[in-house]
Amino acid sequence: MAETIIGIDVGFGFTKATDGKDFLVFKSVYGEAVDLQYKEDLLSSPKNDEHLQIEINDTSYFVGELAERQSSSRSFTLDQNQFVSSSSKILVLAALSKLLHEPEQSIRLVVGLPIGHYRQYKEDLGKMLKGTHTFSAIDAQEKQTDFKVTVTDVRVLPQPIGTVMDRLLGTQGVPKSQRFATDKIGIIDVGFRTTDYTISDKGRYSERGSLTTRNGISKAFSKIGNKLKEACNIDIEIYRLFEAVDTGSIKIRGKAYDLKPITEKSFKQLATAIAADANTVWADDWDIDAIMITGGGGAVLAPYIESQLEGVVIPIKQDLDYRLHNVRGYYKFGLYTWRKKED
Ligand SMILES: Nc1ncnc2c1ncn2[C@@H]1O[C@H](COP(=O)(O)OP(=O)(O)OP(=O)(O)O)[C@@H](O)[C@H]1O
Ligand SMILES: [Mg+2]
Repeated sequence: MAETIIGIDVGFGFTKATDGKDFLVFKSVYGEAVDLQYKEDLLSSPKNDEHLQIEINDTSYFVGELAERQSSSRSFTLDQNQFVSSSSKILVLAALSKLLHEPEQSIRLVVGLPIGHYRQYKEDLGKMLKGTHTFSAIDAQEKQTDFKVTVTDVRVLPQPIGTVMDRLLGTQGVPKSQRFATDKIGIIDVGFRTTDYTISDKGRYSERGSLTTRNGISKAFSKIGNKLKEACNIDIEIYRLFEAVDTGSIKIRGKAYDLKPITEKSFKQLATAIAADANTVWADDWDIDAIMITGGGGAVLAPYIESQLEGVVIPIKQDLDYRLHNVRGYYKFGLYTWRKKED
């Protein structure tokens, strides 16, 4: 039987993963597990999928929302300077604990690295993930499942290239679009903390034309957060603003605040900076055929960025949460790389 292929995209904001069928998204946050206090869901049955807890080498971690809500000791977000560290491993194993159906199995992994880390950490990340990992998953009822997962192969991609692979390859990992194999495509990946720029030239990644900036969506969100703090003196986690910004208002202590004017203003400012960087970094690449805007931040900023870009923009398919295009591309790239030889 062909080995299971899993794609995982560990971002500064969210960890995204897929086995080709299911998608998983959780915040890239983890913390020490604590004893949960007695709680009872009065209106619905307890939802197990919100409980993400794993134990590695006798240390128990809460991951994602659960860490944010319950870990009283420090919870860590990914450190930009230590991307390839135990934290990415914890997030990867947490994702596996949810996606794998067999506790003991061999898998192949495709993962991404931010552009700025790619060349330096590609090998290290591959080495860290390859081999056998033993860990346990603990569910909301404290039931423990022991995993022994052997990663036989790892491929590491520059993160935004996932979106190109997603368009280039069909669901079976076979190239379907000639265009992406012949054209020169610029990709702008707007994430939570960073924006990555890169070029896929005839399906190849080139370091030239690549750049990482700190212009992630969190920059606009912190402006919106500051404005709210001025208005009602409450610190709002920037993670929590997505929904409020999406609907255009937020209720704080029963009072609704209109977020539209400040959102419009901060998104425009951020989009202008993002587009200006694209025009600068690709100034010599006048032969770019088209540009794609991806990443969760791309979903909200694309209309603002597009009008300021020098070039033609290929709209992203609306069939999937923008945050997931890279990881779906990783999975397809895995199929392309490994399935061909076996079939
Ligand atoms: N359904 C959603 N829920 C929450 N955020 C969303 C959603 N859809 C889009 N977003 C936006 O996606 C952003 C995160 O995007 P993404 O997951 O691509 O970032 P990341 O890859 O974790 O960050 P980075 O690229 O900086 O490492 C959020 O800041 C938010 O603005
Ligand atoms: Mg990202």
